[in-house]
Amino acid sequence: MRILVTGGLGFIGSHTVVELQNEGLDVVIIDNLSNSSIEVLDGIERITNKRPVFENIDLRDKNAVQDFFNRYSDVQGVIHFAASKAVGESVENPLLYYENNINSLVYLLQQLQAKPEAHFIFSSSCTVYGQAEQMPITEEAPVQQAMSPYGNTKQIGEEIIQDVAKVSNINAVLLRYFNPIGAHPSIEIGELPLGVPQNLVPFITQTAAGLRKELSVFGEDYPTPDGTAIRDYIHVVDLAKAHVVALQRLIAKTNREKVETFNIGTGKGSSVLEVIQAFEKVANQKLPYKIVGRREGDITEAYANTDKVNNELGWKAHLSLEQALDSAWKWEKKIRGSF
Ligand code: WQD
Repeated sequence: MRILVTGGLGFIGSHTVVELQNEGLDVVIIDNLSNSSIEVLDGIERITNKRPVFENIDLRDKNAVQDFFNRYSDVQGVIHFAASKAVGESVENPLLYYENNINSLVYLLQQLQAKPEAHFIFSSSCTVYGQAEQMPITEEAPVQQAMSPYGNTKQIGEEIIQDVAKVSNINAVLLRYFNPIGAHPSIEIGELPLGVPQNLVPFITQTAAGLRKELSVFGEDYPTPDGTAIRDYIHVVDLAKAHVVALQRLIAKTNREKVETFNIGTGKGSSVLEVIQAFEKVANQKLPYKIVGRREGDITEAYANTDKVNNELGWKAHLSLEQALDSAWKWEKKIRGSF
């Protein structure tokens, strides 16, 4: 069985390809290189001694997607990462997000529903919960009105998959990620944010590397112990391994009509100030930062209840916040040439 990884040259996708190849699985990557670089293929090969097959395809091109599946008729599993994912950009340019994130999903599913058997893992996000009422967040927490078109595309994507799975042979699972951070311990692959990083950890590492003057902490007036917002930061390698386990469970699953949802997090919340303190410890240097106003659309707190994924998938996160920050820092220094 060959596994298609869409967005496989991206941050989470590339780390997942490494874990799939480590398990001896045959992988083909589709990526349109809009938010990644071809050098990531070299990094994957250096880690696993195996270069994945790569197809530079834009999933918005329906004919190109159909042609791909005609040429790769042995693809029976798909892990779908490819999507635009910048919350702020989605507010500015909603149609870019609806076209890219929804049309691509539809074209993939159209090809899969024609197959006698197809396993499908959807990259979703805890953003669908908005500000959940209760912490830690379980999969039963209500999906709230999306705070951005990006978040809405994840909600709509989940609903499309639920509808299609009921009337096809598509055997699907939805993985709702919390906050992925860090880099592979080999430092051969990691996060490559284009432009000014939107996310906390790449902004921290770029500040520590001297690319940014200082980190702006978005708000210190949240109802949390130290006033800064709390998130569940999961090492990207732990997250990648969750996909391998989820695929193995999908293949073994008998009741294939039911689409299961899993929160993929560590189960531990960390505030922005706690992340800064942890980073200063692993980097052994002070991080320049200033407190500014809250960022539009940010929630106070989100961390996962991991009982379901622990018990039903048999997966749990093992790597710590410090290990993730240490790998992110080592990666930053390497790509800045000071490693
Ligand atoms: C984390 C915390 C910020 C930057 C988003 C998406 C989510 C997923 C991960 C795609 C927040 C604070 C950040 C900065 C700061 N993306 N922060 N200064 O917003 O929790 O989640 O990215 O899948 O779907 O919603 O992650 O890293 O942007 O922010 O103070 O320069 O760090 O306010 O509290 P977020 P983040």
